[in-house]
Amino acid sequence: MRQAGRYMPEYREVRSRLGFLELCKDTDAAAEVTVTAAERLGVDAAIIFADILLILEPMGVGLEYPTGDGPVLHHPVRSAADVARLPDVDAAAAVPFVYEAVRKARAALKVPLIGFSGAPFTLASYVIEGGGSRDYIRTKTFMYREPQAWHALMRRLATAVTDYLNRQIAAGVQAVQVFDSWVGCLAPDDYERYVLPHMHEVIRGVTKGTPVIHFGTGTAGLLELMRAAGGDVIGIDWRIDLGAAWQRVGYDVGVQGNLDPVALLAPVPEIRQHAARILDRARGHDGHIFNLGHGVLPDTPVEHVIALVDMVHEMSSKKAALGAGG
Ligand code: CP3
Repeated sequence: MRQAGRYMPEYREVRSRLGFLELCKDTDAAAEVTVTAAERLGVDAAIIFADILLILEPMGVGLEYPTGDGPVLHHPVRSAADVARLPDVDAAAAVPFVYEAVRKARAALKVPLIGFSGAPFTLASYVIEGGGSRDYIRTKTFMYREPQAWHALMRRLATAVTDYLNRQIAAGVQAVQVFDSWVGCLAPDDYERYVLPHMHEVIRGVTKGTPVIHFGTGTAGLLELMRAAGGDVIGIDWRIDLGAAWQRVGYDVGVQGNLDPVALLAPVPEIRQHAARILDRARGHDGHIFNLGHGVLPDTPVEHVIALVDMVHEMSSKKAALGAGG
């Protein structure tokens, strides 16, 4: 999760030459950043270098990535009339560079490649807030006051997201991850009413045969509903015990997670204890993807991430060997 990023010197070197959006649109550079990160870390899968907000740029929201701060959308959507004015997103024309980067990265990678998109709710939150937010007051207020416009916005985003994911699959990604990063701010009833149907549409529309990872953070109150919305794998963050979460979503789906990204700032023996506990919680069931509960933080030492990958490989092959021995 955020395999390629500012914590990595190789990434910082490329970023010293290219702006963030420039890098996303330079397909050789985006593929190179993807492949370098996966090889350097020794992970079992790569995630394509892109961003969840790229698909919003052609909606005329004025997307910008100022240095140091989170992304900004200079023309947020604040009314039903704003929603009605939004142009439809043509995922083919909007981000051709992403598919090209996928083809190039696939050609160079020895491990599978994951494609991704933001989920409709998380994208809507950026469109309405105009950037990141702490409490999502504008997003929720819009939802409550303008339910029709909300659903219209979510339908348009869901259509664009589904098309976008399927075009990444056509270009070669072998799994897709849908990031509903900020959906944990919602009450379960509101998730069910304002989000679930749209998320269900997206996941149902993904090309059959490609696994879908349904990711969120702060979702301990929503896990059963997220599972009902769909996905072959449910992302779990560190605020909930992985074993308890898996029991709740059911063992017929996989789980991904759930190391606290801050644990990677701890000394290596401490990281090992954290990782061992997570692997312990997953013991006895098939379908756990070890991952962080959220993205790698910019101050993380790269050697710690490499050490984590090595120790997870080592401890999980031991576990598999023990399992095989009965
Ligand atoms: O993991 C990877 O290597 C793939 C690349 C990737 C990026 N963004 C690159 C990026 C992925 C999978 C994303 C997803 C993304 N983007 C999400 C969902 C995942 C999550 O973390 O919840 C969200 C919410 C965004 C929106 C976004 N883009 C934010 C909040 C930021 C600022 C992040 C920060 O740490 O400052 C971005 C910019 C961004 N996207 C960076 C990267 C590497 C940092 C940009 C830079 O300065 O170089």
